[in-house]
Amino acid sequence: ADSQQQQLIQLHEKAAEVYHHMLVNTAIGETALDYLHKRGLDDQLIEEFNIGFAPNQRDFLFRVFQNESLDSALFPESGLFVERENEALVDRFYQRIMFPIRNFQGKTVGFSGRFLATEDLADKDQPKYLNSPETAVFNKREILFNFDKARGALRKSGTVYLFEGFMDVLAAYRTGVTNGIASMGTSLTNEQISSITRLAQELVLCYDGDQAGIEATNRAIGHLQETSRIGLSVVSVPEKLDPDEYVKKHGQEAFVNLLEHGKETVFSFKMRYRRMNKNMANEKEQVEYVQELLHDLLNVDSLIEQDRYLTQLSTEFQISRETLQQQLRDLKRQRR
Ligand code: UTP
Ligand code: MN
Ligand code: MN
Ligand code: MN
Ligand code: MN
Repeated sequence: ADSQQQQLIQLHEKAAEVYHHMLVNTAIGETALDYLHKRGLDDQLIEEFNIGFAPNQRDFLFRVFQNESLDSALFPESGLFVERENEALVDRFYQRIMFPIRNFQGKTVGFSGRFLATEDLADKDQPKYLNSPETAVFNKREILFNFDKARGALRKSGTVYLFEGFMDVLAAYRTGVTNGIASMGTSLTNEQISSITRLAQELVLCYDGDQAGIEATNRAIGHLQETSRIGLSVVSVPEKLDPDEYVKKHGQEAFVNLLEHGKETVFSFKMRYRRMNKNMANEKEQVEYVQELLHDLLNVDSLIEQDRYLTQLSTEFQISRETLQQQLRDLKRQRR
């Protein structure tokens, strides 16, 4: 079984090399390379992450592999191909910018391919990103994009940044924030959380600034608080931008500044989040708001922080601190 995994990894390393070659050395990859340059990825980053391009041809990789006389026994299980009804294999990835996905040891075990739209190829029937399927070496529950590279910086600082997308991780990487990671477009799993907490003491959630990103942030907070004791903070990207778009619009310095000084506590995030779907001019909704926040306050470990927020709520809604504290104690008792 081990040697099978080794062979699957070899196929992926080979595929990554081929795709990378197509991107940087051939006319077929030119449009894709221009696209990446326009998005701010320079050649050095493209090298470092071994980014590639899968041409718009369903038998491209298959032919390359055949010409290299690679053993085809494992092709069907590699996830690099899909089987047609007649059992013929065709490439899974075509007309896509290829991001190699590496395991914790730095070996390529899968891909995420971003569809490259062109004038004659619209993206209507195509998912924007297509990921490798589950294989013997690619486990989506465990894998984290850039975790292998992030490890060094992460051990030093104890902090990890969690982004929504690969392009955000790469945007951060460009600005010198090398300890950024992303899941494969899904919410964090318990396996991923335990890998993270083994190395990091602090996790900064920096998802997209749009509504979906805000909801995902709230869910991630809930899950992380239930399953770990890692220190959490939130960076909300303004103007509904995602981190990559923010770098593009406001520059690298502004982004680094946002990450360093734009961090807020989980509770401060909750105060904004709980408000979002409420009409705060309505008294009933105000009371609901305070009640929800008291629940959130149960997850605040620091007494100093708790005290601050109690005062804040007490002042804003003219409720005595004693009442709030009593209610908080009751909630604590109920939860046990
Ligand atoms: P986004 O839609 O925010 O993409 O999805 P993005 O990272 O900003 O990509 P660009 O900037 O348009 O290139 C966030 C993440 O969700 C997953 C991917 O992992 C993506 O990075 N995703 C998104 C998919 O898996 N499939 C999709 O079709 C779209
Ligand atoms: Mn190269
Ligand atoms: Mn998004
Ligand atoms: Mn995004
Ligand atoms: Mn984006």
